[in-house]
Amino acid sequence: MPDTITITDDRTGKTVTVPITDGVFPASAVRELDPSLFIYDPAFMQTAACRSAITYLDGDAGILRYRGYPIEQLAEKSTYLEVAYLLLNGELPNPEQLATWSHDVTHHTFIHENMRKRFVDGFHYDAHPMGMLISAVSALGTFYNDAKDIDSKESRDKQILRLVAKMPTLASMCYRFSAGLPFVYPDNDISFPANFLQMMWKIGEYELDPRLERAMDVLFILHADHEQNCGTTAMRVVGSSHVDPYSSCAAAAAALYGPLHGGANEAVIRMLTEIGHVDNVPKFIEEVKSGKGSRLMGFGHRVYKNFDPRATIIKKTAYDVFEVTGTNPLLDIALKLEEVALADEYFISRKLYPNVDFYSGLIYQAMGFPVAMFTVLFAIPRTVGWLAHWQELLGDKDQKISRPRQWYAGEDARDYIDLSAR
Ligand code: ACO
Repeated sequence: MPDTITITDDRTGKTVTVPITDGVFPASAVRELDPSLFIYDPAFMQTAACRSAITYLDGDAGILRYRGYPIEQLAEKSTYLEVAYLLLNGELPNPEQLATWSHDVTHHTFIHENMRKRFVDGFHYDAHPMGMLISAVSALGTFYNDAKDIDSKESRDKQILRLVAKMPTLASMCYRFSAGLPFVYPDNDISFPANFLQMMWKIGEYELDPRLERAMDVLFILHADHEQNCGTTAMRVVGSSHVDPYSSCAAAAAALYGPLHGGANEAVIRMLTEIGHVDNVPKFIEEVKSGKGSRLMGFGHRVYKNFDPRATIIKKTAYDVFEVTGTNPLLDIALKLEEVALADEYFISRKLYPNVDFYSGLIYQAMGFPVAMFTVLFAIPRTVGWLAHWQELLGDKDQKISRPRQWYAGEDARDYIDLSAR
């Protein structure tokens, strides 16, 4: 069977044959047929907008790999900083490289005092931490004029280091402001997740249980990248204009803020709270199935149609966290929902399984994070994914400024009508 596709324009009889490589054929085939012919593909459902060597995802088989390494192995054996190095550089670091990278990240965690004293203090007292974070990432870029020098590898690496290192500092600063608590400075002597948690929670003496430190690291690993999702696409589209990476990261974070993207775990907590008791689960499921109620939040995925491998890991992490914090009272409702849904023909036939958000909100809540911080927690590790894609984009000779075409559906040409005649 030839690995080609032949497209015929029935209007003209013209035919073009192009190769199919790894299940993809070039859209230039359409341009060859007729330069004014376009493909209508809202939401890029069938469009590969780039070639990428960072993350592999097979939704039917429930597979997720970073640079070829299965997510299950990374979550079990690696750390977020090691995974960050892997995503950015393509290979796991050797001991010396890991030591240098960890040292460099650790020593770039501080932010300019004006960011806190003047910038963050200017927000309204009840500002949403994610809205603050988006603005803070963008504002951070104004402190580094070298950030615009995206053609220099040295400058790119510097900005990547700064963004990865300072994101937890910005995130905790946004939280402390909204809670009315004094800012806690980074501690360069402890691990990346431990430093973030102490910046979040420290009031006087602070002792961190290593199980919570590890759980935070695992959650960071699981959220580090997920190929061409909405936020990463925003990063690539904005980055393709060659703006500085802080501005692109702010755009990506803005995309993540939306409830259809990073906000679903918030919706899960709201749903579980509304259900209120395990006895109400069957009624709730019936309402979901009838279409009268809401969807079963935390279930289903655009790409995963078998299971979301991150959900399996997160469920285990949830139990590790509950050992320390005590069970989240909503857990029993979640477990019952999962049990009932996974045995129900409606969910089986539609291939609806728990996704990454089904259990992550329960963990965050048990660890004490307010619901408004959930998307912020997602943005911290996803920053490295955005930057890995940004770096790849800038080195990709096939790429140009992103500029899709449209299917014009407006009025034809018409003459201006004077105001008095309208
Ligand atoms: N509960 C009930 N029914 C569902 C659900 C759900 N969670 N998800 C999909 N369905 C049903 C749809 O009603 C539809 O049924 P129909 O064929 O009878 O009309 C069928 O399953 C297919 O649904 P689509 O909306 O076409 O699937 P799509 O791939 O577009 O949606 C999505 C994926 C948005 C994740 C969806 O499953 C959903 O809304 N889930 C709940 C929200 C959620 O958990 N989002 C987090 C995703 S993970 C992340 O972003 C990090």
